[in-house]
Amino acid sequence: PPELAARAAYVIRGNSAGAMTRAAPDLYPHQWSWDAAFVAVGLAHVDVVRACRELDSLFAGQWRTGMIPHIVFDPSEEGYFPGPDRWASAELTDDAPRSPRTSGICQPPVHALAVERIAEIAAAHGGPAAAHVERWLPGAYDRLLAWHRYLVRERDPQGRGLLTIYHGWESGMDNSPRWDPVYAHVVVGDDLPPYARRDTAVVADASQRPEPAEYDRYLWLVEQLKRARYDDARVRPHAEFLTTDVFASAAFAVANEALASLARRLGRPEHDELLGAAERFRRGVLDARDEASGGLALDVDLVTGDHIRVETIAGFAPLISGGLDTAAERALLALLRSPRWTGHPALRHPVLPTTSPSSPEFRPRAYWRGPSWPVMNWFLAWMLNRRGAKDVAGSLRAAALAELSDGSFAEYYEPVTGEPLGSLDQSWSAAATLDLVL
Ligand code: DGY
Repeated sequence: PPELAARAAYVIRGNSAGAMTRAAPDLYPHQWSWDAAFVAVGLAHVDVVRACRELDSLFAGQWRTGMIPHIVFDPSEEGYFPGPDRWASAELTDDAPRSPRTSGICQPPVHALAVERIAEIAAAHGGPAAAHVERWLPGAYDRLLAWHRYLVRERDPQGRGLLTIYHGWESGMDNSPRWDPVYAHVVVGDDLPPYARRDTAVVADASQRPEPAEYDRYLWLVEQLKRARYDDARVRPHAEFLTTDVFASAAFAVANEALASLARRLGRPEHDELLGAAERFRRGVLDARDEASGGLALDVDLVTGDHIRVETIAGFAPLISGGLDTAAERALLALLRSPRWTGHPALRHPVLPTTSPSSPEFRPRAYWRGPSWPVMNWFLAWMLNRRGAKDVAGSLRAAALAELSDGSFAEYYEPVTGEPLGSLDQSWSAAATLDLVL
């Protein structure tokens, strides 16, 4: 482990582009929103000041609405598609900053959790690190409050307690099979501007990436959002892709709790507002549980009104947000450890794959359709620890570490063979390693 941590720190440093860390050296040469939150946690173990800068760089891309965009582009880097010209956010709305340039959608709101964890790590280090974070927290708090208020206002206007997303990319789990039914009614028009993909140029084995027809839909939705000038009020009524996201909602519930604690600590008046939001989204996730699916939380396709019955990692959302009674919590933890999931006999390590290996949708090499993502195992373990489920958290941590111990810091792994897939030296895989080891 000490050598593994040293190598992880080296990888994160190597991916640094000044104030931001590239999500991956070639595949993702810009700053991604939830990647940055997790990367900052890893960085906090080695350099707290740099961890705060990481988030400041992301906050610099925050929109006037409060939205934190899913990509903040590094101006010195031209190689990504879709890049800032394709998103054209600043050209289409005054809500987007002119500089830095950004995408026009968001990602799961894990940032307040990251800030809470960074403060914890800094406090454990003590000295100037802790003092630096103390000075930094009030400014970070203001950014996070605006972000959370945006999500409550624009992404849950009906008060369901569930966040709504406009694009699979917003879930961070781009091609998860839970979005298949939602994409099924997205019809790509013949005026989709031509494009050349970047991901399949970097990752030679196309079977590890979304398929061409899927990618066309991703790009088509971007054109639709542009047509609405990224204005939430104009997007919602006509969106071709509109669904709840139970995973993001669960993270948001806990993030509100973390931000409420921060409000108290800083003597800010929003404590009750934030706890109220935590309660609302916790309830939303609990209400999304499906008995027939063993207590997994299911999303609702908001275009058709249908429940999406697919066994993915997102179904465990109630273990993140909490609020289950003891029996229900035990049952869901038992499902997680059962042969349908981490206890599946074919798995190389008892990791939580993105789709149940027992489900017909499981595809062990295809991005979010089955591979195990170390960062997700680590995040779940972190959230379970927060809830007091130390046993299961401990085994997820050990399994994630066993997977990462090959030192490739792959984006995701084939869960049966343990083969590293996607981009190597992925920043958030290295960050998760640092938080697991140190
Ligand atoms: C993108 O291209 O922005 C996606 O988020 C990559 O996963």
